[in-house]
Amino acid sequence: MTSVIIDCDPGLDDAIAILLAIKHLNVVGITTVSGNESIEKVTTNALKVLELGGATHIPVVRGSDRPLKRDPVYAPHFHGESGMGGADLPAPTKVPLEGHAVEFIIEVGMSASDLVLISIGPLTNIATALRKEPRLRERVKLISMMGGSVTNGNVTPAAEFNVYHDAEAADIVFRAKIPIFMAGLNLTGQVLVGQKEIGVIRTINNGAAQVVADLLNFYVTASERLGARGASLHDPCAVMAVIEPDMIEFESMHVVVETSGDHTYGMTVCDRRAGALGRRKDERSNSVWDEIDDQLSRPKQANVEVGVSIDRERFFFFLVETLQRY
Ligand code: BDR
Ligand code: CA
Repeated sequence: MTSVIIDCDPGLDDAIAILLAIKHLNVVGITTVSGNESIEKVTTNALKVLELGGATHIPVVRGSDRPLKRDPVYAPHFHGESGMGGADLPAPTKVPLEGHAVEFIIEVGMSASDLVLISIGPLTNIATALRKEPRLRERVKLISMMGGSVTNGNVTPAAEFNVYHDAEAADIVFRAKIPIFMAGLNLTGQVLVGQKEIGVIRTINNGAAQVVADLLNFYVTASERLGARGASLHDPCAVMAVIEPDMIEFESMHVVVETSGDHTYGMTVCDRRAGALGRRKDERSNSVWDEIDDQLSRPKQANVEVGVSIDRERFFFFLVETLQRY
């Protein structure tokens, strides 16, 4: 069975993503990265979520405490000061595994031939692992990430939080020539939840579902305060792309990360021009580009499968069914 590592920064939606993943995938480890909150907080939260989900056999490995080049920017306005706003989970009884997340990713990646990395936080750990052990590029079967956007950003008009937090790391990962599924804001914004959905989850009579309802309540309130019409289930989308990929429609695109723009730092620049190499087969036509001078930035070979639409009803139904299994 394919081995999966979840690299995360819990985080309300990370917590829901973990609860979704551990019921369906062979999760061999949870690695943490500074993002929504400090590395101490997100690591404690990962341990708490696994205890809530009855999955303490899965190791938690603490990772990078800051981005490659910049200072961390946390997100307490969305996730609360603890990173798990709305839920008061007991202190974990387990401790993280000895060692660093980067070493763990390398070790698992080099011993399993089909590692899938689900990245739902900044890409610092994964980029560092790829730098330290370039052979990982051939070993990792897939990176399914929540990050970036084809359209607007959320931290800035152009940039999504996970990529913005460490754009230099994201740049390394997007260039690594590893197959990537990208669940960006353009996709995750299609899975909005509000009080109606929370009401449905409240009727599920177990501890995990009740905590998910509490987390979502906090998340929806925070999102609405910032002008959204509900909360987007960002991170669970990257998990769903591995469990049920046919729930999502993907488009192949060439994607690069902006690491220098004053207004666009952290933007994922997605090439959707007609004729871009690697887009849907029926749309591939390079004849025009063959005639145009290279200076016109000819479309490049696609490096990412970008999620463009998702079956929201099916997604929510699947989440509810999963929560019923706790
Ligand atoms: C991403 O940023 C974080 O705040 C969420 O957990 C998610 O991974 C959304 O932009
Ligand atoms: Ca996250």
